[in-house]
Amino acid sequence: MEKRRLAILTSGGDAPGMNAAIRSAALLALSHGLEVLGVRQGYVGLIAGDFVPLSRADVTGIVRDGGTLLGSARCLEFQTVAGRNAARARLAEAGITDLVVIGGNGSLTGARALTAPEELGEQVLRVAGVPASIDNDVGLSGLSIGVDTAMNTIVDACDKIADTASAHGRTFIVEVMGRDCGYLAMSAGVAAGADLVLFPEAGRSEEEIVEVVVSTISSARRRASPPKRVLVLKAEGVRISPERLKTSVEERLAALGQTGALVETRITVLGHIVRGGRPSAFDRVLAGRLGFVAVHALLAGESRVMAAWAGASAPPPGAHLSPGDPHCWVVTLDAVLAETQRLLDGTSPVVRWRNRVFAEIEGVLNPPA
Ligand code: F6P
Repeated sequence: MEKRRLAILTSGGDAPGMNAAIRSAALLALSHGLEVLGVRQGYVGLIAGDFVPLSRADVTGIVRDGGTLLGSARCLEFQTVAGRNAARARLAEAGITDLVVIGGNGSLTGARALTAPEELGEQVLRVAGVPASIDNDVGLSGLSIGVDTAMNTIVDACDKIADTASAHGRTFIVEVMGRDCGYLAMSAGVAAGADLVLFPEAGRSEEEIVEVVVSTISSARRRASPPKRVLVLKAEGVRISPERLKTSVEERLAALGQTGALVETRITVLGHIVRGGRPSAFDRVLAGRLGFVAVHALLAGESRVMAAWAGASAPPPGAHLSPGDPHCWVVTLDAVLAETQRLLDGTSPVVRWRNRVFAEIEGVLNPPA
């Protein structure tokens, strides 16, 4: 019988809940008699052969910890064939036959490249991905690990900002992470009751962005007496700096002769705060389930797949429902990465739908004069 040894790695930007995924993947594999190893620092550790045994004791109590027990890294060397050859050699030396990769777009791209048949040859190596990225930019998974915690962190910050903003009658621009995807800003914006969300997928020019902020402020000034506060949630991927946006908006309002409430603008950039902290209960459950589904897929002999959070819709081509969890799909990495590309270039129906919904929300929140 084939002796199986399973390794787990976390890679790319860490996300709250990664530890819960490590735990569930490790416990399930151990319970099936596999030896389990952790890889330190993502693909950097894979290339260096930096493996540590993972026992039940090692993963006990880690569900509540943010970050990742194994460490993470962004690894340029892994994008080269030489880097991947080195990683495959280390895996073969250590007798590792199965690998769980927990991470976002870059990490899953790495997992697919690592097991590309033309590079893998005769080596036995199965890989299963688990989507983890606060940006929620992994295709075909309704949610990635870390999104819910990040959203809660943003909403908590915005609630606090709303207190001081209302006390002074000010406008606040709050910038949140989301390099290429505005999902966090959008969902947190809805939950925080923001007046406007700026996200890259809308494709607005700098001038249009300034204009929509100005019209949101003007509309709030007309509506409320006295006007309380305006909250603008801006995704990092919207390529105008918050400082430049503030200056341009204030100048434009001055040119329109607007003074007083809501004209004075302040900026808060939440940055890496959004990525840290104890994972929410939902993220722990999601991570636990996805970790389970990934290992179940490997145990069933599948490879080059990802465990995905299904939501309510039917499995897309290249996916099947997990036999162990009716809310999760097992999707091929090819299908995941193709849809991820469409999310990033704006051609995915999901992006089109989000654009439509937010255009409608803007009209509802800030009706024209
Ligand atoms: O993990 C994704 C992300 O949080 C992006 O939203 C952000 O632009 C990036 O990571 C920051 O990466 P780093 O921690 O390497 O600066």
